Amino acid sequence: MLLRDVQVGDVDAYVRMRCDPVMMAELGGPLPREGMADKVRRDAAEARSGTAWIKMIVPDGERPEAVAGSLALWRHKDHGEEIAEVGWMVLPEFQGRGIAKRATAMLLDQARGDDRWAEVHAFPGVTNAGSNGICRALGFRLLGVEEFVWAGRQLRTHHWVILPDKDLKIPPTG
Ligand SMILES: CC(C)(COP(=O)(O)OP(=O)(O)OC[C@H]1O[C@@H](n2cnc3c(N)ncnc32)[C@H](O)[C@@H]1OP(=O)(O)O)[C@@H](O)C(=O)NCCC(=O)NCCS
Repeated sequence: MLLRDVQVGDVDAYVRMRCDPVMMAELGGPLPREGMADKVRRDAAEARSGTAWIKMIVPDGERPEAVAGSLALWRHKDHGEEIAEVGWMVLPEFQGRGIAKRATAMLLDQARGDDRWAEVHAFPGVTNAGSNGICRALGFRLLGVEEFVWAGRQLRTHHWVILPDKDLKIPPTG
């Protein structure tokens, strides 16, 4: 498995992830399809410039166009304070194989030693068993429950934080 930067050609994968009611059940419901080509273009530009790390998860390095999901590590304002946040999505046919957990560990491992990502937050929905499981397994610390706005939607989330340099637990491969 490898992680590569998102590219403009990844629009179909974005649509499957972000415009699907099941994929988006814990994220406030599906997003409209119309905005997806623009969103991918903006994400690809940010990934190229390095301001955010926006990656596609590639299960087979020989076929980099075939993706299992995506990950992002970016900085933004939360309650007036700038924080780094990580988020992840894995397509249904790839779920339940440890892919999100391993991909997130790979990304946070790459973030080690970079001041921008010295402390990384995650905000999975309180009922998102998979994502809360990932945070627990990788060494995130639970700070509490928060009301959170994502893509204009009000969500009730757990607030987790990790210091990748100190706390990251890399899961065994296989
Ligand atoms: C949540 C999601 C990323 C999990 O991806 P995945 O590749 O299936 O997750 P993994 O296989 O790496 O599993 C991670 C952990 O969660 C557990 N888990 C995964 N799916 C689960 C589920 N539906 N219910 C309970 N536990 C689950 C796994 O057992 C594992 O825990 P373990 O380390 O104790 O064994 C994926 O289901 C998804 O993209 N869902 C839709 C979008 C979404 O909710 N994104 C997250 C926003 S924060």
